[in-house]
Amino acid sequence: MTHKDFIEIHDYSADEVREIFEIARDMKANREKYRDALKGKTLAMIFEKSSTRTRVSFEVGMFQMGGHALFLSSRDIQIGRGEPIYDSAKVLSRYVDGIMARTFAHKTVTELAEYASVPVINGLTDLSHPMQAMTDYFTAWEHLGDLKGRKLAYIGDGNNMAHSLMFGASKVGMNISIATPPSYAPDPMIIAQSQGDADYAGTKVTITTSIDEAVRDADVVETDVWASMGQEAEAKQRQKDFEGWMVDARVMSLAKKDAIFMHCLPAHRGEEVAGEVIDSPQSVIYDEAENRLHVQKAIMYVLMRK
Ligand code: CP
Ligand code: NVA
Repeated sequence: MTHKDFIEIHDYSADEVREIFEIARDMKANREKYRDALKGKTLAMIFEKSSTRTRVSFEVGMFQMGGHALFLSSRDIQIGRGEPIYDSAKVLSRYVDGIMARTFAHKTVTELAEYASVPVINGLTDLSHPMQAMTDYFTAWEHLGDLKGRKLAYIGDGNNMAHSLMFGASKVGMNISIATPPSYAPDPMIIAQSQGDADYAGTKVTITTSIDEAVRDADVVETDVWASMGQEAEAKQRQKDFEGWMVDARVMSLAKKDAIFMHCLPAHRGEEVAGEVIDSPQSVIYDEAENRLHVQKAIMYVLMRK
């Protein structure tokens, strides 16, 4: 694998995604084998937004491979006071062996990648959340086995999660149906790119405003919050626009009988998902959370080991 960065799943081939999954599975089963895999290496973790899972799983992941992670809140570093990304990328590259960044503007992460000489990992932007989507497909693979020809239904906002799930589906051979309220469809550019990837892979991407159509015969049902980080000012309007956009037992009953439910978390029970679904045996949310650790360790191993 010759990548410097991990910005989008779109940039990786199906074989490369599969290779990362195989490494993650081995790491999950044989943690000790990798105890020195990144010995002496340091990861800088830049956060412009809050995080529980991303922060903890990256930091623990580095520790488990013999390395070290630095938590850098944008409130405390000079980026937050307007130091150019160009200089920040060059300077950090003199100290650390990799950078993970969670930002508002997607461009911040792509600029970091452009100017840093060390690997840059997208830890969520307004546009995408590839670490979570990689993990979700890994989790589906663990639960369902071969994913070829299976269907994932995503119900809710056409947001960063929807985008990354769209990019990931074709790489694992899955069809994906996205159902959103009328004015909350995914970004047209992401639709076009993922459609192209799907054509190449022989899979399908469907965009609809019908929950029932999307979820029918799905093997995996996923949703996400109505208002993402950075959309606090729209939250009231979104509460109105998303009324009824909840994955509940009725919605799950339209999916396959053994379908699994996924959510990247944090979740709002009673909004995008009913407690009867997220806390049911079909829900694999804590496996997803755990697997962030294993999948990201595999990604850091692939990018930072040299
Ligand atoms: N799912 C996820 O990325 O969680 P955090 O915001 O807690 O990192
Ligand atoms: N769409 C959510 C995902 C959080 C992990 C957000 O961006 O806030």
